[in-house]
Amino acid sequence: MKITSKLPNLGTNIFSVMSGLSNQHNAINLSQGFPNFDCDKKLKNLVNHYVQNGHNQYCPMTGVPALTQRLADKIQHLYQVAYNPKTEVNITSGATQAIFSTIHAFIHPGDEVIIVEPAYDCYQPAIQLAGGTVVPYQIKAPDWKIDWEAFGKLITSKTRMIILNTPHNPSGSILTDVDYQALQKLVAETDLLILSDEVYEHMIYDGQKHCSILSYPALRKRSLAVYSFGKSLHATGWKLGYIVGDEALMHEFRKVHQFDVFSTNTPMQYAIADYLEDENTYLGLSDFFQQKRDLFLDKIKDTPFKFTPSAGTYFQVVDYSAISDEPDTEFAKRMTIEYGVAVIPISVFYHNNLDHKVVRFCFAKTEDVLEAAGELIQKIEIK
Ligand SMILES: Cc1ncc(COP(=O)(O)O)c(C=O)c1O
Repeated sequence: MKITSKLPNLGTNIFSVMSGLSNQHNAINLSQGFPNFDCDKKLKNLVNHYVQNGHNQYCPMTGVPALTQRLADKIQHLYQVAYNPKTEVNITSGATQAIFSTIHAFIHPGDEVIIVEPAYDCYQPAIQLAGGTVVPYQIKAPDWKIDWEAFGKLITSKTRMIILNTPHNPSGSILTDVDYQALQKLVAETDLLILSDEVYEHMIYDGQKHCSILSYPALRKRSLAVYSFGKSLHATGWKLGYIVGDEALMHEFRKVHQFDVFSTNTPMQYAIADYLEDENTYLGLSDFFQQKRDLFLDKIKDTPFKFTPSAGTYFQVVDYSAISDEPDTEFAKRMTIEYGVAVIPISVFYHNNLDHKVVRFCFAKTEDVLEAAGELIQKIEIK
């Protein structure tokens, strides 16, 4: 049978490749972005409670009302903006589904979508499946900054959407007020939509504050922001998240959402609504992860790797150009096989596989694992 692929150029993703290699060589896997520790027992008990007490059927398409209300309150508190929990907040099956549905709700064939590369891997296939064209803007080590004038040159009459991600996976960089002021000017006279991927909003370091697009009145009307409970609750396997946006945008979003998932896991939503009553469950995450980042960086500080401490996310990128001039994919494989620590090469996050000798470590791991990985990395030899 002849199959005409809709995504002909998509191969096996790098996370599967590196994890496979990591298992094969018994390496410490710092490649994939998830914790090696469990979520809070209190949260698991709450899920158990709601499962045992009959909250096991479809919930409303928009999400469990107690949870959407809790999130609207949280947003009001953190970003000083009122979103209506009934019409402007929606629970989703992870940030991935929120992103997919948003792209399908707004992107028509022929529309252009500007993304910032290195880019998280789910944007491009979703745009392509919707018939859109990906227009990449590339940021690079060591500062990973967007030059908004150059960025603006990518906007054409066909541009429909900009996708931003802060804190940024994989670079660990963040957007600041200066970025948003420039962005505001750039889009002021346009009908551009902005999809803001803020799944790492609570992992931000060295006393900095997360700058959400929701805090900017001039950008809010054109923006949808997505979040992930997988990240904020150490429960990536639950695939739960949410999206927030102005009512007119959410109205369109829901037209797609109701037919690609309709609603998502009911008992977990009840549990999360209760759990988030204590704001320390999320406000404590920056300190929690900064300790891990610092422990890891302390371990590798005397190696030839060059780095700037990650400003956000649970990833640390390092430049290995003082060690080797191998392509980053080869270097990542060698790190795994010869040194026993699996990493992700950054070139895979660029459409043209731009290789500037940078790899990514995930530090969402227990201290013993970070210590052990650090010891192995210290053995690295210049080639
Ligand atoms: C930048 C970014 N966006 C979205 C996601 C997906 O989140 P979820 O697991 O909630 O679908 C991830 C997961 O790694 C991510 O790093």
